[in-house]
Parts: sequence; structure tokens; C-alpha cells
Amino acid sequence: MPDGATPVTGPVLDVSGLKTVFNTRGGEVHAVNDVSFDLTAGELLGVVGESGSGKSVTMMSLIGLLPMPPAEIRAGRVSFDGLDLLNTDVETLRAIRGGKIGFVFQDPMTSLNPTFTVGFQLAEPLRKHMGMNKRQARVRARELLELVGIPDADQRLDDFPHQFSGGMRQRVMIAIALACDPQVLIADEPTTALDVTIQAQILELMKELRTKLGMGVIWITHDLGVIAGIADRVLVMYGGQVVEQAPVRELFENPQHPYTRALLETIPSVSGEREERLTVIEGQPPILGAAPTACPFLDRCDVATDRCARENPTRVEVASGHDAACFNPGAVPIAG
Ligand SMILES: Nc1ncnc2c1ncn2[C@@H]1O[C@H](COP(=O)(O)OP(=O)(O)OP(=O)(O)O)[C@@H](O)[C@H]1O
Ligand SMILES: [Mg+2]
Repeated sequence: MPDGATPVTGPVLDVSGLKTVFNTRGGEVHAVNDVSFDLTAGELLGVVGESGSGKSVTMMSLIGLLPMPPAEIRAGRVSFDGLDLLNTDVETLRAIRGGKIGFVFQDPMTSLNPTFTVGFQLAEPLRKHMGMNKRQARVRARELLELVGIPDADQRLDDFPHQFSGGMRQRVMIAIALACDPQVLIADEPTTALDVTIQAQILELMKELRTKLGMGVIWITHDLGVIAGIADRVLVMYGGQVVEQAPVRELFENPQHPYTRALLETIPSVSGEREERLTVIEGQPPILGAAPTACPFLDRCDVATDRCARENPTRVEVASGHDAACFNPGAVPIAG
């Protein structure tokens, strides 16, 4: 950069028009349909949506983790750190994964290697990506375990994954993902198997780290309640699409898409009675066999109009920084 030039402060990660299709024996599965979003440094972006809505496939598409075939990225652009990730050579991408982009897989029990100590698994990325020697890597590995709140870190380095509790294994996974000071951390629902207290602790840790390290975090979950107090912004996914995007408070106070409103109703109120039943969203998620020609939420929507059956709505801004893919944003069903 020439002297005196101001650095461009744009998003650290910028995804636009991403389309990912699986070619299976049963036909195509349009798992990700025209997904766009960005992430700013130091921002915690929550991604919510029910099972099969395309959260994992979206994130795996970005960092080249999908098996191709059957997966195929049909369209889109992903900019990260001046690179177009969808057109980057395998070597560079490999260096980015676990280096500048850390990620925690959905199932940490299977992603830790049971045959190596936790210390070894923490040290590996440090030696590979950060050029540390064995001793330096051990010191840093201990710091990382301390960072994620594991007591007796020095001794625990020599333990194997099965010697840790479920919650601790998840912390270890996060420590590994954080090892190389990533600019972006993608965490795919690492808290579902945990009790609420541990979930809250891990999310608090994320909040702290993103401020301390200026790291952007993408936190994927089924549960809007989990990220309510933590995320800066939320993407709501449904049927392979982003159906709503807003700053977290705005989303809670002023949800525009009927799916988001339905999701909000599934959150048990904190002060609620124990026996309070969770509302479930009636109906089935859409079949993703072809590129959508109607709104994916049509069959389950209580404010749908004729147009929703003819056209798939694109996202339109409803307030500053808030958009929704709905022809009738904010509409309430007519009673009766
Ligand atoms: N290897 C694959 N082959 C075919 N279809 C796949 C494959 N992987 C995922 N899919 C399909 O892609 C769609 C999106 O899946 P994805 O795993 O992204 O959902 P998700 O939102 O992460 O769900 P969950 O909350 O259960 O993790 C689903 O319909 C899924 O069945
Ligand atoms: Mg998933």
C-alpha cells in the first residue's frame, strides 16, 4: 500500500450469490440458493435455521470442504483477505483453513483424533501454519487451553480426547480453531450437546475473544435463543436461502419474515413455566430438488398471497441494515 493511503475497511469475508448443488442418484439437491452475506472484523454473526436449511453446506462451500462431486458450486463469489476463495488453488485454501480461517465442525466428538493427545492436536496447526518448534508450540498450546477455560492446562495437554468431558472437548476444538489467531472463526453449532450453562460460557468466551482479537465469528445454531444476547447480527436461513438479516435486537423486536416470527415463538421464555410447551412450526421444510420458483416458505406461511406461489422473493431492505425475502414483510395473519 502506498504511503499515506488509508486501508480499505470493508468486510473481512464477503459472500455473494452462492449456489451449491449436490448431484445425487436421486437427482439434484439445491442445498444453497443464492446466499449472500458479509462479516466485519470483530463481528459475531449468528446463523440460524432449522435442520437442512443449508447452514453447514454454505459454510463448507466457502472453505472448500465439500466433497466435489457430489457437491458442485454453481455460482457465487467469496472474497476473503483479497482472495477469491472459490477460485483459489488447493494449497492456498488448505493454508487458509485452520490458519486465517478457523472452524469448529458440527460434531466435535468425531473431529478430534482419539489416538493423539490433545496437546499434539493443538500443536500441529501451530507447527504447520505458524512455523513454531516443538517447545514453542507446547507453550502456546497450554495458553490456548487456558484461554478456553480448561483447568490444569499443562497436565491436560498429555491427555487424550476421551479423558475430557463433552463440554471440555468442545472447548478443545475451539482452542484448536483459535490456534493460529484466525481472522474469521466459523463455529458450526458446537453447543447443542451441552447444557445451557456451558453454552453460555462458551458464547461469552467468543464474545470476549472477538473484541480482544478483532476476530470475526460466524456462529451457527438451530436456536435463536442461544445467540440472542451475544450476536451482533443474525442471518436467518430457510430452504437454502437467507430469508432475513438484521442486527440482533432489531430482529427480535421487529421480525419481518414469517419464518423468523415462527422461530421466535419457538424460544421458551426465560421466566416461563417449566411445563410450557414449545411451539413447533407446522408443516415440512421444502424439497430442494430444483431451483426454487416460489417462496420456499409458502407451504407453511400464514400470510402468503398468490404472488408467493409464482415468484421466489429476493431480499429487500426493510430498515437500515435489515432485509427480508418476503413479499409481505411484517404482515400479520388475518384472524379467524
Ligand atoms: N453430501 C450430500 N449429498 C446430498 N445432499 C446433501 C449432502 N450434504 C447435505 N445435503 C443436503 O443439503 C441440505 C442442507 O444441508 P445442511 O447440512 O447445510 O443443513 P443444516 O442447515 O446445516 O442442518 P443442521 O441444522 O441439521 O446441521 C439438506 O437438504 C441436506 O440433505
Ligand atoms: Mg449443519
